[in-house]
Amino acid sequence: MGLRHTGCKSLSGAVSRTELVCLPKGCAAGVAVDFCWVRRGEAWHSKTPREMTKSIHAGGRPVWAEISLKAILRNLEIIRKHVNPGGRAGREFASEVGGGFLANEMRTGKSACATEGEGQNRRPEASGTKGEKQNGRMILAVVKSNAYGLGAVPISKALQKAGTDWFGVTCANEGIELRESGIRKRILVLTGFWPGEEKRLLENYLTPTVTRVDDLRHLERAAKAFLGKSARGKSARGKSLRVPFHLKINTGMNRLGISPPDVEAFASTLAECSHIELEGTFTHFASAEDFIGGQTVTQEELFRSCLERLRALGVAPGIVHLANSGAICARPETWADMVRPGAILYGYHQSFDPPEKRSEVMAKLPLEPCLSLRARIISLRDVPPGEAVGYSARFVTERPSKIGVINAGYADGVVRARTNRGCTLVRERRVPLVGTISMDLTTLDVTDVPGVALGDVVTIYGKDGKSAIEVSDVAPEIGTVTSDLLCALGRRVPKYYV
Ligand SMILES: Cc1ncc(COP(=O)(O)O)c(C=O)c1O
Repeated sequence: MGLRHTGCKSLSGAVSRTELVCLPKGCAAGVAVDFCWVRRGEAWHSKTPREMTKSIHAGGRPVWAEISLKAILRNLEIIRKHVNPGGRAGREFASEVGGGFLANEMRTGKSACATEGEGQNRRPEASGTKGEKQNGRMILAVVKSNAYGLGAVPISKALQKAGTDWFGVTCANEGIELRESGIRKRILVLTGFWPGEEKRLLENYLTPTVTRVDDLRHLERAAKAFLGKSARGKSARGKSLRVPFHLKINTGMNRLGISPPDVEAFASTLAECSHIELEGTFTHFASAEDFIGGQTVTQEELFRSCLERLRALGVAPGIVHLANSGAICARPETWADMVRPGAILYGYHQSFDPPEKRSEVMAKLPLEPCLSLRARIISLRDVPPGEAVGYSARFVTERPSKIGVINAGYADGVVRARTNRGCTLVRERRVPLVGTISMDLTTLDVTDVPGVALGDVVTIYGKDGKSAIEVSDVAPEIGTVTSDLLCALGRRVPKYYV
């Protein structure tokens, strides 16, 4: 089969089935890296060692991640359709958004930021609230922790274009990174704020979450100072504006959120705050994938009773949201006004209890995993029987073996818990990981791969021809969750968005 050198092309769209692709420095995604590979059909094969040596230059450590934005956008569409059956929202929890600062202004498209130029490049667009055109249930894309390790900026940009309504991050720094990269949609800081952080939240138009009644006072003080600056506190029509925030209620996770008995204290403290306004109310499920135990139903009932108490106290809960991936997939009664997908947006279904539930859910939402993590074999060695491989001699050969080494270790995302556990793919075959995973290198038993060669592409996660090993398959094998493995993806691994 002939190889064609394509020269400098971005990965996206440039790879035909039989091409040798070369990515010179800075060519793809602005990453300074050089490497080549050959793709035949959809499978990954080596070139000759001589060719490989020639094409890998300094700075071209052969490990990389391919992140399919196409898959993420497709998953978004699948989720959107799933939570809007019939094309419209069935708003069971009845949103009654109060609006206020930014919210009102954004609805009318007018600025809440009076000083010319000030905050212009950070000011968000309007979010969907009561009384305006709705495309159905809103989607809050959870892009915290650098979009689960996959790259918050490129992913959020693509999601913004595709019409995601909100983004969810964990702290001011994560939100500011998105604002600085041009994200104009509303950003909810899901994990609350530490006193002192609120000023940065407001200045960057990030929506804070109140998780303790005391937070109201801190936020009120910051909002007063923020709105008092120049003419920020007034709308174009001279109306007083308020800073919107969301309230998190603890319904059983017992980590963050006000406790149900604190609803009264929350309402009375809020009544004393004239610069802030409740825009949304949410809770978070501890075990949405568990259909054997009753925790999720209990959480949901408690949450509903808190919403009723709030309403009875004259406080409109605003945008109501509680569904994470598991609940989006399998608990339509929890979809409310907005859903918060994380793992499923990236294409990964959770493990369900009972396990049969997973196949049911997978049939309903045929998601596409977005991550491929690949490396090349940089060393091949024949090892006689009875020899140890790697740190602490945790693998000993039982036969004449061929041991391949890849340039990827736990600092790249091949987690150490995979020591002597599970497989990668080489030439579409499953190849066992052997020996202790080290920081930079991993050893594989490639004895059974005919024709294995230096430079062969090893798929750690993703598809290789007709074979696939997805992150979500590996996670239960080592007693963890998909998000944990995604977040382990190393910073030094070049990421290509395809
Ligand atoms: C408040 C909140 N909502 C939604 C999510 C998304 O969860 P998942 O990845 O299960 O969809 C998270 C993630 O931890 C979260 O903290």
